[in-house]
Amino acid sequence: MSNHIAIVGASGAVGQAILDSLHKRQFPISSIRVFASSRSAGKTVRLGNTELVIEEAGPDVFAGIDIAFFSAGATTSRKLVPAALAAGATVIDNSSAFRMDADVPLIVPNVNDEHMGTENLVANPNCTAAILTSVLQPLRQLAEPRRIVLTSMNAVSGAGRQATEELIEQTRVDLAGGVPEAHRLHHVLAFNTFNIEFPVLEDGGNTEELKVMQETRRILDIPELSMSVTCVRVPVLRAHSLSVNVDFGVEVDPEEARQLLAAAPGVQVLDDPEKRHFPMPRDVAGQEDVFVGRIRRDPGHPTALNLWIVGDQLLRGAALNAVQIAEIRAS
Ligand code: A2P
Repeated sequence: MSNHIAIVGASGAVGQAILDSLHKRQFPISSIRVFASSRSAGKTVRLGNTELVIEEAGPDVFAGIDIAFFSAGATTSRKLVPAALAAGATVIDNSSAFRMDADVPLIVPNVNDEHMGTENLVANPNCTAAILTSVLQPLRQLAEPRRIVLTSMNAVSGAGRQATEELIEQTRVDLAGGVPEAHRLHHVLAFNTFNIEFPVLEDGGNTEELKVMQETRRILDIPELSMSVTCVRVPVLRAHSLSVNVDFGVEVDPEEARQLLAAAPGVQVLDDPEKRHFPMPRDVAGQEDVFVGRIRRDPGHPTALNLWIVGDQLLRGAALNAVQIAEIRAS
């Protein structure tokens, strides 16, 4: 089977992470073409030591492509995914464009890849939903989760490459005594946090929080799961941190939870109260596994557990997830 690959959005943070994951995992590549907007045409990206020249994406570029990874936002996906599918490619789409379409599987490998059939369009989930469900799925052996209260601390790279560069620049300016400015970011993020920059809905939630709730329910196939989510942007370069309270409706044993998580694929337990060593974005950035610690009973609610989860959102929540879907497809 040939694997002629296209990456749309190759100049972005997730695009580069897809290239890195393909290289690191030695995905068998017959040929590869990289695409972005006209702004990036002619610039280069790296696949290992190989420089690839970026081409402008358009509806006519997909002839002969077997697998197309899309990570260029929902607008670009809506515009170009139909052309890629018409050209016969299997599309793995990292945008939110098709995630809630009933006939498009929304897949997190090791969690629900049995939901994937032979569809030629597969959706990659929201980064927080992917990290969260990686930990919730093994815990279902204790009991089904009934309610989840979650605060996510989202790294700046989730907002893209330019937002990441802006945080670094804001930090430099602030330390030099200047006045940092926000252009790409919604507010100054250096030495600050803000509620995530997505549009606020009528009920006071925002579109990112809604995605986390809807997609978590869909991935786990628990439509009635009660969720309350707050997403916050923090001045961390890479890896989201999640403070999670899971109510199972029956008493569960934190030690049993720890054992289930330690045995789960793609999950590592880092829970050392003596050294006060728990998962941190600086340690988790660049790692494929999701890390979980502070596994403890909710003192005010005996049927609930508290968890602290950290995952590299560019990997588990995006690039690695997409490449693992391609691996399953290619196997
Ligand atoms: P470009 O760098 O040329 O703007 P990030 O989320 O890190 O900002 O990355 C977004 C990715 O989506 C980039 O590769 C960006 O390319 C790409 N992109 C944005 N708009 C388009 C478009 N209209 N057509 C193709 N790629 C696009």
